[in-house]
Amino acid sequence: MSALLELRGLEVEIQGLPILRGVDIEVMPGEILGVVGETGAGKSMTARAVLDLLPAGSAVSFRSCSFGGQDFIPVKARQEARGHRIGFVPQRPRGSLNPVFRVGHQLSDALRRLRGLGRRAAKKEALDLLRSVRITDPERVYRSFPYELSGGMCQRVCIAVALAGEPELIIADEPTTGLDVTIQAEILRLFGDLISEHNTAGMLITHDLGVVADVCDRVAVMYAGRVVNTGTTAEIYREALHPYANRLVSIAASLDSGGAPREIPGRVPNPGDDLASCAFAPRCFRAESDCFEQEPPLVDAEGQLAFCHHPLTSEAVSR
Ligand SMILES: Nc1ncnc2c1ncn2[C@@H]1O[C@H](COP(=O)(O)OP(=O)(O)O)[C@@H](O)[C@H]1O
Ligand SMILES: [Mg+2]
Repeated sequence: MSALLELRGLEVEIQGLPILRGVDIEVMPGEILGVVGETGAGKSMTARAVLDLLPAGSAVSFRSCSFGGQDFIPVKARQEARGHRIGFVPQRPRGSLNPVFRVGHQLSDALRRLRGLGRRAAKKEALDLLRSVRITDPERVYRSFPYELSGGMCQRVCIAVALAGEPELIIADEPTTGLDVTIQAEILRLFGDLISEHNTAGMLITHDLGVVADVCDRVAVMYAGRVVNTGTTAEIYREALHPYANRLVSIAASLDSGGAPREIPGRVPNPGDDLASCAFAPRCFRAESDCFEQEPPLVDAEGQLAFCHHPLTSEAVSR
């Protein structure tokens, strides 16, 4: 099966500083890919490059990029896909809804623009979409202003907007940040269910590996502007090849079983910092001199891929 979204060697610079340093990501049809990594790893910028939503002053280049077989390098292709073929669920739902319009108006507007529906048809479809994101009183929500709704309700509306163009892929960037913990799981489950009901694929960006386990089929772990480890969720959780991914998983697992919050010692590098050949080496419990001196090789085991000199499984072989 060929990938729905395939990007290779994505590089982004903002005001001359390297932000993404060769990101490789693929999303297969129907799957949900989790993109994880600490704050600053480049998760949001990866999504924004695909959607052509990078900040002013950014320079972007790809070695290759395709979506549904279409060349996605031309900026026009990415702009035209946004909303239509790729839906986007933002990080701050309330902030991304317009405060001065009722949410029904905003959703109907999206439907008219994306699907060319007339006023009446758009309203009917908007109410259906609100129902499909499990809003039990869609008429009331339709007439509400964003400030009259809870954060969780606003995020349901944003998911409805993302679905409006009948997209083939929905990218959600930390969709539960800032929501009540009890609501977070509900929204993530909803996201997972909608992906399969609407026959699309998903990319779920989060800094929290704990949330990935329930929802995602595969995981891409990012560090300092690169993807360092990919694999099925089951394999990454069982034993991630890359020491960074491995640490993230064990921290998430210990939190899950009631342990105190922990962090990986050291700090995430900033754009423009001098990096070791493996950017994680200064924080890595398995690092040796080669990690500082030579680019880590791509290794492969049990369906995982990682860039690492000293992966955690002895069966890993260099590609
Ligand atoms: N508007 C911006 N201008 C300059 N640098 C930025 C901007 N937004 C983000 N960055 C930097 O880009 C890097 C990647 O950011 P981001 O993709 O937002 O990380 P993540 O989503 O993984 O937390 C970070 O080092 C961040 O400081
Ligand atoms: Mg982010």
